[in-house]
Amino acid sequence: MFETIEKEVVKNKQFLSDVLKGLSAETKHISSKYFYDKKGDEIFQQIMHMDEYYLTNAELDIFKSNKCEIAKIFSPDKEAFNLIEFGAGDGLKTKILLKELLNHEIPFDYVPVDISQNALDQLNSSLKEEMPNLSFQGIQGDYFEVLSRLKESNGKRNVVLFLGSNIGNFTNEEALAFTSDIGTKLNAGDLLLIGVDLKKDPRKILLAYNDPKGITAEFNYNLLRRINRELGGNFNIDTFEHHPTYDPVTGECKSALLSNIEQEVVIDDETFHFAQWEAIHTEISRKYSVKQLHKLARKSGFSIKADLFDTNQYFVDSIWEISP
Ligand code: AVI
Repeated sequence: MFETIEKEVVKNKQFLSDVLKGLSAETKHISSKYFYDKKGDEIFQQIMHMDEYYLTNAELDIFKSNKCEIAKIFSPDKEAFNLIEFGAGDGLKTKILLKELLNHEIPFDYVPVDISQNALDQLNSSLKEEMPNLSFQGIQGDYFEVLSRLKESNGKRNVVLFLGSNIGNFTNEEALAFTSDIGTKLNAGDLLLIGVDLKKDPRKILLAYNDPKGITAEFNYNLLRRINRELGGNFNIDTFEHHPTYDPVTGECKSALLSNIEQEVVIDDETFHFAQWEAIHTEISRKYSVKQLHKLARKSGFSIKADLFDTNQYFVDSIWEISP
């Protein structure tokens, strides 16, 4: 109980110092990892069910059509392995694979990792209900924190899942640092399955982040609401506008909140001045080409074992192996 309260206080301190630092920078920014409080998780669920957000259905399509092949690649001789998932969320796609592995009586331990305790709690209860025979243990934490514990695993083969184009929320440097870090923590023969949104018609991409009902805008506004709720900020949400852009050259889909008036905002006794139309950069959702993705794999010590695409070729689940 005390440990939980202590953890919450530390998390809040980190949130406050990141927000103050980000808003003091020359280009104001706040990390998209702070989107995901209870309300943010709910809005993200709505996003994943929107027609415009094609990413979810594309990856579901890949899992439904290739579940048997994926299970065979993960455990060709039905040997036991650890299935570690970073950013597990509601497990919608993973559950297809978990059921397939259970049906084939392949022994494995599922370790979902998520930044959101709330998302993990919900996943926990749905897994207990839907798959009572599943062996699993959720971990709450930042991916980078949890990576360091991978080495302590139990001698079985490790298979890491990183789905939903979560890699797109990293800068190029962070993406390389992350996949390289996974690479160094895994042993020869271990696998990484990474789900990535591909470059495509810019209009299709932009619509996914600028839906007409304004759900993605709400997702961004919730960040300001969260600062008001948890850090005592005084953002007036009506004076900020959600502004996503997509650059097909870099593959970067960027979201920003623009102040539509000149104003001052106070958080924890610090005052931040906003010029009219000044931006707070909130999120990057990078889109890759297959070539760029393969380059990332090789640079981080992996070789490519398989590429699985959806019927529209919007998305790829690429399976990488640690080269011996
Ligand atoms: C979690 N992540 C991969 C989503 C994305 O597409 O970048 C988050 C998101 N942001 C706006 N819509 C969805």
